Amino acid sequence: MKKKMVSVSILGASDKLEAVRLLNGTSCDFIHIDVMDGEFVANKAFSMSLVRKINRITEKRMDVHLMVRDVEMYVKRLTGMNIGYVTFHIEAVRDRDIGGIIGCIRDMGYGVGISIKPDTDIGVLKGIIDIVDMVLVMSVEPGKGGQEFMIESVARIKEIRKMRRDVIISVDGGINDMTSFLVDTDMVVVGSYITSSSDYEERIERVR
Ligand code: DX5
Ligand code: ZN
Repeated sequence: MKKKMVSVSILGASDKLEAVRLLNGTSCDFIHIDVMDGEFVANKAFSMSLVRKINRITEKRMDVHLMVRDVEMYVKRLTGMNIGYVTFHIEAVRDRDIGGIIGCIRDMGYGVGISIKPDTDIGVLKGIIDIVDMVLVMSVEPGKGGQEFMIESVARIKEIRKMRRDVIISVDGGINDMTSFLVDTDMVVVGSYITSSSDYEERIERVR
């Protein structure tokens, strides 16, 4: 299996800015920022003021995962940052102008990701998968870190790969040094497995 890019979720880190500083000294590819609005998911996380603070100190590009209903509003607030990808949920935008949202993210100079929850039929990605850069497959119910990887994700990822060969596939939830090797993805999002350790770099190497 080819080596994977690693995007480290700092959701579970007790001191998030300290986690960002530690990650600056590692080989990780992105820092994963979980923005939760308390509506699309029950929890709230990463206020925009915290995202701006992280933006000021990070030497890694951010991989922003929007778990929010009002995608347009949150996207607009991400202008001018050190961001690689902005990802939003397909479940949040079904009745909305998806092309407009994608255009807005591209105009800001960022890659576009679409995320899909574990219970959503992957058929809804048809058409959209061709106009985004990345698909973020949720392997847990979004909303909190430290949950167990859902094994059904392995087959879902295979099906998504058949839909489009050259899209970047990333997976988020319950990834560790075992589950990372069950999935054939380009990138893994890893939270608690890395942030619960005192040696981030060692854990990053083990999931690649
Ligand atoms: C879950 C978040 C994840 C989470 C991953 O809603 O999207 O990014 O932080 O954490 P672990 O790796 O602990 O499952
Ligand atoms: Zn996430």
